[in-house]
Amino acid sequence: MKIVSTMGEMSCISDELRRNGKTIVLVPTMGYFHEGHLSLMREGRRRGDILVVSLFVNPTQFGEGEDYGIYPRDFSRDRGLVEGIGVDILFAPTVEQMYPEGYQTFVETERVTKPMEGQFRPSHFRGVTTVVTKLFNIVKPHIAIFGEKDFQQLVVIRRMAEDLNMGVEIIGMPIVRERDGLAMSSRNQYLTPGQRKAALSLYRSLQKASQLFRSGERNAERIVDAVERVIQAERDVTIEYVEIRDAKTLEKIEMIEGQAVIALAIKVGKVRLIDNVIFMEA
Ligand code: PAJ
Repeated sequence: MKIVSTMGEMSCISDELRRNGKTIVLVPTMGYFHEGHLSLMREGRRRGDILVVSLFVNPTQFGEGEDYGIYPRDFSRDRGLVEGIGVDILFAPTVEQMYPEGYQTFVETERVTKPMEGQFRPSHFRGVTTVVTKLFNIVKPHIAIFGEKDFQQLVVIRRMAEDLNMGVEIIGMPIVRERDGLAMSSRNQYLTPGQRKAALSLYRSLQKASQLFRSGERNAERIVDAVERVIQAERDVTIEYVEIRDAKTLEKIEMIEGQAVIALAIKVGKVRLIDNVIFMEA
């Protein structure tokens, strides 16, 4: 596995690979890998000739008072984990390279970034769309893979790639969970054992939602109410939002038809967790 830490080298390698007709797959990450990240990489390995994983904790997607400074970082552990998967290139640029002095250009996607995460993290998606655009321009992938764990992020990136004719195929991959159902996240590290237990209400509430859907409930408000009741039974957990929306457009819906998603964000103590489930007609 090659480790590339400059944008110029990465860009040259990609140009050469493209000239030789190779299919480049990119898995963008912020590191501190877990099985969720690794599942995207395995899919990437399957889909292309050259698998590039980017590792960059992107400052512009963190709001003030968020966890940028303490976001977990462990390069040597991460390097070991990806070597086992057959990653060809680990691209890890520095902040100074990505956002040099005088940097002032941002990419913004409008409507789909406004609700849910956008309501609680107003500048978050502007940072995500900007860094993903930069990564696409440097790595020049044919395919890029993202997780459904960050469902809204996936919708936003699909929209952006289509709107800006980026020519990158966007692939979404299912959420990987711990054995007890908690969605894997680099942020799970922050949880104390007590909070870890309380965080399980997130998954339990989504199971309740799926169960209601399977038994024929299609009224969004009734499902949201039931989900909120499950979470509220837990002390130390506060709800930021629970919403059911159209899975493609993220428009609000009253009755579920076609593909819909229930997405939620909670805080357990100071730790913010997100999760979702897609409703699909059998
Ligand atoms: P990060 O949180 O490191 O996640 C990298 C990718 O892994 C994202 O596509 C995310 O959805 C996926 N992922 C995380 N947990 C997962 C899980 N439990 N199951 C499946 N996939 C999971 O998302 C980001 O980084 C950044 O916003 C980024 C896109 C890299 C831009 O900076």
